[in-house]
Amino acid sequence: MPLRLTLLESLLQRLNLLPTPLLDTPLAPGIAKALITACEIGIFDALSKHPLPLNVLAGRVNCDPCGLQLLLHVLVETGYLRQKNGVYRNTNLAQRWLTSGSRFNVAPYVIHSPDIVAIWDHLPEIVQSNKAAMRMPYEEDASVPQTQAQLERHYAGLAALATVLGSEPIMRAPIPTNATALLDVGGSHAAYSVLFCRKYPKLHATIVDIQPGIEAGQRTAKQSGLQDRLSFVYSDIVRDDFAAPMENQFDVALYFHIAHLLQPAINQAVLAKVARTLKPGGMLIYVDQVTNRRYRMRLAALMVHFMALTMTTVGGTCYPFTAVRQWLENVGMEQVQQYSLFTPLATMITAVKR
Ligand SMILES: C[S@@+](CC[C@H](N)C(=O)[O-])C[C@H]1O[C@@H](n2cnc3c(N)ncnc32)[C@H](O)[C@@H]1O
Repeated sequence: MPLRLTLLESLLQRLNLLPTPLLDTPLAPGIAKALITACEIGIFDALSKHPLPLNVLAGRVNCDPCGLQLLLHVLVETGYLRQKNGVYRNTNLAQRWLTSGSRFNVAPYVIHSPDIVAIWDHLPEIVQSNKAAMRMPYEEDASVPQTQAQLERHYAGLAALATVLGSEPIMRAPIPTNATALLDVGGSHAAYSVLFCRKYPKLHATIVDIQPGIEAGQRTAKQSGLQDRLSFVYSDIVRDDFAAPMENQFDVALYFHIAHLLQPAINQAVLAKVARTLKPGGMLIYVDQVTNRRYRMRLAALMVHFMALTMTTVGGTCYPFTAVRQWLENVGMEQVQQYSLFTPLATMITAVKR
């Protein structure tokens, strides 16, 4: 993917005559670092309106022209930029996915990706012990500037991902058209709530999360102009009984990308609280990577395996559908169904409260 091989190179690779491990490392991590740097210093945004010569671009992004050119050469060879007569322009790939004016902009997630890569530094420990080696930043002290910056990057990255790739669960979730109240458990950045509110004009969403998550959600509420249709509740979903003041109030509850953070017994306990917040007949929608599916897409399979590896490192993991169905049935839900989602390469599971 970031490696663009010529026909001859592809043929050599198929014949196992290229040293592919030397392309996977150090070339692939090098390309990743070049891309992250380009997003951080704003190269793709600087080129989003007009192509620019090196000196002008260097002035716009505040870089030394000779230093910048080293990076630009890599970006040209990896297919993110084109260069003709000393003038640089974004390729369609960069323009669509990496510029802030595009509705498909995933640059915030690219900028967040080193925090994910840092989790993989623990891979040897995980392989040897199969035990958590670090914690997610949610449990760290958010008043420490470094943690605060990390959480901001995290929520901005997740919001970009949800906005760009998250419309499929909104399209496919069979929620009743007369639904008026949605609970977004661990919904932080609120991007999924915004997508649901846009599709269902009568819907009001309540987002439950930790304080830094809520601050991210409040920024989204302001940017989307949906402040009066989004409410925020600060609560620790594991330790607090957030359901007590909300019993039987919601038509829909989202449990999106939460299960992989938690151990089975804790998922069961949190889902029991979520179920209590639903009205009888209300729907719980679970989205996450599910392990026991046969994936037709190699990318989806790779994603699930990486997710399981990453989440085990931070104390969670990915679960099979049978485990999720059992949790849901144990907390009084029925009609449990699963749907494979194409875009976030995840699985959606729905269940209805008895
Ligand atoms: C992987 S993110 C998923 C965010 C969002 N639901 C999505 O799908 O993009 C996990 C979310 O759970 C929240 N979270 C983690 N632990 C929590 C806790 N103990 N109490 C409340 N929220 C928590 C995080 O702040 C974050 O918003």
